[in-house]
Amino acid sequence: MRIPPLPLVQTVESIRNLLATAYRRLVPGHVALMELITAGWITQAIHAAAELGIADELTDGPRSNAELAAAVDADADALQRLLRLLISYGIFTKQRDGRYALTPMAEALRRDSPVSLRDAVLLFGSPSHRNHWSYLVEAVRSGEPVPEKLHGMPFFEYLQRDRDFGECYDRAMSSMNAFALEPILAAYDFGRYETIADIAGGEGTLLTEILRRAPRSQGILFDLPDVIASAPDRLAELGLADRCTVESGSFFDSVPKGCDAYLLKHILHDWDEHDAGRILDTVRAAMEPSARLLIIEMVLPEHAGLHPGKFIDLEMLVQVSGRERTEDEYRLLLARHGFTLTRRVPTVSPENILEARVS
Ligand SMILES: C[S@@+](CC[C@H](N)C(=O)[O-])C[C@H]1O[C@@H](n2cnc3c(N)ncnc32)[C@H](O)[C@@H]1O
Repeated sequence: MRIPPLPLVQTVESIRNLLATAYRRLVPGHVALMELITAGWITQAIHAAAELGIADELTDGPRSNAELAAAVDADADALQRLLRLLISYGIFTKQRDGRYALTPMAEALRRDSPVSLRDAVLLFGSPSHRNHWSYLVEAVRSGEPVPEKLHGMPFFEYLQRDRDFGECYDRAMSSMNAFALEPILAAYDFGRYETIADIAGGEGTLLTEILRRAPRSQGILFDLPDVIASAPDRLAELGLADRCTVESGSFFDSVPKGCDAYLLKHILHDWDEHDAGRILDTVRAAMEPSARLLIIEMVLPEHAGLHPGKFIDLEMLVQVSGRERTEDEYRLLLARHGFTLTRRVPTVSPENILEARVS
């Protein structure tokens, strides 16, 4: 996969933000607002395309509307209306001969594409996920996550209870993992560590990819029992069974001891200051002084412009008691729990790697 240079990505991104701001200032406020009011429907349109498997049906080449409608079992007129909107966003294209084809964004909706976001959109467009978001106003009023009010239990407990939704969530996390995988691997040399523990590493997508590229490193995948139940089979399939062990437990109790690096990817953002601090305390208790803690998160910028982390921050408000944080907020949180932030490594994705050591 081609990873563009970071300065180029940052320059183009700031020009894009400047142009978007200029447009919104130019047109009357209500015109700019209307565009945003309906913007959420594009997520639903992408979700419908993913559920129908449109991108998969175009893998072998362009198809006419009638062929596609038959293949995905859809109404031909409704399908072309769905595709018209998606095409206007660059998802799918219509050729001169009227047949539909894939674009790079549509490729990412294919089930077996190298970086597929299909499972992520299946989660974010799912009725359960949307149901939680429909209570955003209550979350803002109370400052408390929705699942506790709606289901009487915290989000991660609910995922264990409703295993269809839980599995949909686990697959989506792996899919989101794949999204930033190459940029993370390109930005940081994980191979310098002999033993790497991925704490709450989910299905192990990041750790297995690190181990594949760092043949001298050993790994430990740690997460809740249900989440890692199938991990040993997957590790065996990938030929990593002898280099990666699987341990289950709660990061509020204890984590594997004595590793050289501890990964916490998208973990601290799930929790408020108190619980994020408890996780840091548990990890610190397992670490030798020479070990490094590697926090991978979408660190919030100080500026008022657009940033994906600002969306995920609201997702954290709706689902869990977590939040996205700025670099200063991470530095402070780490300091309160006996760590010193030593380095921030940006990637071409919104993810950053924060390296810390025990103070
Ligand atoms: C947002 S996901 C991140 C997963 C993975 N690190 C990634 O980046 O895809 C949060 C993970 O925390 C795990 N988790 C939640 N509560 C936990 C606990 N008490 N102990 C260990 N893992 C937990 C969940 O099972 C889930 O895999």
